[in-house]
Amino acid sequence: MQTDKFKAAYRKIGKGPAIVLVHGFPENGYLWHNIWTELATSGFTVIIMDLPGAGMSTFEGENISMEEMGDSIKAIMDNEGVDKAAIVGHSMGGYVAMAFAERYHSHVAGLSLVHSVASADNEEKKQTRQKAIELMRNGKKETFIRQMIPGLFAEVYKKERPQAIEQQIERGVALETKAMIAFYTAMMNRPDRTRILEEADFPVQFIIGEDDNVIKIEAAMKQATLPKTNFISVYADCGHMSMLEKPGNLVKDLVNFNKSLSQESGNFV
Ligand code: MLT
Repeated sequence: MQTDKFKAAYRKIGKGPAIVLVHGFPENGYLWHNIWTELATSGFTVIIMDLPGAGMSTFEGENISMEEMGDSIKAIMDNEGVDKAAIVGHSMGGYVAMAFAERYHSHVAGLSLVHSVASADNEEKKQTRQKAIELMRNGKKETFIRQMIPGLFAEVYKKERPQAIEQQIERGVALETKAMIAFYTAMMNRPDRTRILEEADFPVQFIIGEDDNVIKIEAAMKQATLPKTNFISVYADCGHMSMLEKPGNLVKDLVNFNKSLSQESGNFV
């Protein structure tokens, strides 16, 4: 799927109401490999996208905004003839999903924020991002990735699956420096979209890790109760990466949530 600004690559599996999986930083669509088959065989069309700048997707110029990344979801849906979809966003993918929901409200069947929130970065977070951008600009991309990835996981996973952490680092390092800087800049500049949650006329699901160091449980819980219809799951011994740390729990919760959406609104493809 190609526009002047981006080329958006995706794969599609299964049949039924559409679910778009939007990965976070520093990732690509492969992030979801532990859950995509079970999701598809549970009766859904699963669209697994690479955000522009990640995996097989690209963007023109030096920057890409959260809103433009949201547009890439819409471009993929249009390409597939999907009018309404459930959007599942992990962390930065959730920020993209919020931008999509603001601009394309009537095309959202439901929203799953997986270790994500609708609020903006606070000043402290912006300063941390600025330092990371400097590191990346100075050619220290790998150092930055190696420092950040282990902190995304709960202790138990780090102990049991050191190879999985290494794979994660390799996927992160594979991202171009230009894209990494653009993603960090987009996250830093994103506005607070809490109002979209409060006004949502679609159900919203929150997946929360008790040991998440990026999206703290307190911050996530505050937001989780705002939508009119909400589904909240909190996983023990889980950090920021439930699709790797607790794939069985995550897929079960996504299937249940999406089954409830199709019961509510009929076929939402
Ligand atoms: C992510 O997992 O997408 C990022 O860590 C999110 C963030 O830095 O806010």
